[in-house]
Amino acid sequence: MKITKICCIGAGYVGGPTMAVIAQKCPDIQVTVVDLNEDRISRWNDPDINNIPIYEPGLGEIVAEARGRNLFFSTDVEKAIYEAQMIFISVNTPTKTYGTGKGMAADLKYIELCARQIAHIAKDDKIVVEKSTLPVRTAEAIKSILDNTGNGVQFQILSNPEFLAEGTAVPDLIQPDRVLIGGDNHSPEGQNAINALVDIYANWVSKDRILTTNVWSSELSKLTANAFLAQRVSSINAMSELCEKTGADINEVAKAIGMDSRIGSKFLKASVGFGGSCFQKDILNLVYISKSFGLNEVADYWEQVIIMNDHQKKRFSNNIVQTLYNTVSDKKIAFLGWAFKKDTNDTRESSAIYIANELINEQAKIAVYDPKVSEKQVLSDLDYLETRSPEHNRENTTAFKNPYEACKDAHAIAILTEWDEFTTYDWKKIYDNMQKPAFIFDGRNLLNGKALAEIGFVYQAIGS
Ligand code: NAD
Ligand code: UGA
Repeated sequence: MKITKICCIGAGYVGGPTMAVIAQKCPDIQVTVVDLNEDRISRWNDPDINNIPIYEPGLGEIVAEARGRNLFFSTDVEKAIYEAQMIFISVNTPTKTYGTGKGMAADLKYIELCARQIAHIAKDDKIVVEKSTLPVRTAEAIKSILDNTGNGVQFQILSNPEFLAEGTAVPDLIQPDRVLIGGDNHSPEGQNAINALVDIYANWVSKDRILTTNVWSSELSKLTANAFLAQRVSSINAMSELCEKTGADINEVAKAIGMDSRIGSKFLKASVGFGGSCFQKDILNLVYISKSFGLNEVADYWEQVIIMNDHQKKRFSNNIVQTLYNTVSDKKIAFLGWAFKKDTNDTRESSAIYIANELINEQAKIAVYDPKVSEKQVLSDLDYLETRSPEHNRENTTAFKNPYEACKDAHAIAILTEWDEFTTYDWKKIYDNMQKPAFIFDGRNLLNGKALAEIGFVYQAIGS
């Protein structure tokens, strides 16, 4: 089956970039990305390419090339579903905030709504692709909803999890390590559906990197990949605390172990803790699934990755308070960075939010500068925690458009995101305008500590 019309439900961090790349690489396929969020869709359609809702290096150019040609953004979900032969579901799957599994299980209400809408609208056979990260065996639930419509339409369900990382979404999509497609490989219809999706990716990905499996392996591989990646960060962060006690240096340790080809050098950067919308959510989901099968040891093993990460965030803020003579009350603490990593405007689950929250509890005044995050977003992230009133958050938090203003008269600077531009600042000028002693807490081991100490800063990094 040759696919000529695709629809993607969800125009977020995954749906937007993924579909933009498919549209760019497959000019013969019409790709329509739909979302209920009108503001998001109107920003995807903004004539000024700088206003698209997601900041990713290289994405603007791709959208500019394909938009209006074979890439369309729309709020007309029903029309797009009706017309498409293949429908990607790329909606959010947050951690449940209510009921059974609260705080752990994935909330599948958005997925189910999509399935029901597809079931309601479809008048011809369709391939439905799970792009969202889902608990293993979700495809079964989707299939049961779709198969009970009684209108004779045949559905094939594929799992095609996305492995892109934010900040590098475009290169990750254009040159993926692998593309994973899970489907019903025991039936001819299932195999045809798998082949149809393989053919799309084969327009730019070599076939040896396109892996096909059964649906359950595909679903579980996605959770497993994120768990392994997050576990590496927690492992190196655990060692960073031991380094601080022993005189070892975590950067040297990371280099020494990373040169072992069995361990590998990537993802060994000690930090203030991992953030982002997925690692925590996906591991909690894995913990929940394991518990639901009575696998308590498996659940405990993975939960420890989260416990370690929470500890790393907490000890970073505790250390700031202790170093500043056990009080930060009314002291200005400048935050350089708010996004959960560089080269993205995404702040979901960013460690900066939790560290700011702890310091505001200690009555600090937080001054934020992030090249891609607005004050509105910073305040909304703090309000979302519901730890205090919005007014209280506003009294204690200000965001600046200029890093030098953010750092002026500060008692301390905390580096929370590893933006390249922070290394290029005039640190002598910043030092001259700060309270003394002037402290820097480098949560990303980004800056040159020796050079900063020579200027006069008291510089502290993670794990040394
Ligand atoms: P997101 O919140 O940025 O985007 C999801 C979008 O879906 C939102 O704009 C929302 O309005 C829309 N939506 C929800 N229900 C809808 C409905 N019924 N009809 C139409 N639109 C609807 O989320 P995201 O970061 O793109 O993540 C989506 C999925 O991909 C999640 O399962 C996530 O775990 C997974 N994932 C994310 C990343 C990442 O880097 N962010 C990477 C790999 C996988
Ligand atoms: C991660 C995975 O890398 C993607 O493969 C996956 O598709 C995605 O989650 C997802 O499912 O959402 P992402 O969260 O966008 O991607 O970014 P990462 O580069 O993985 O970083 C996650 C967090 O870990 C960031 O806060 C980052 O600063 C931190 N990190 C990462 C470290 O502290 N140290 C490292 O060595 C690496």
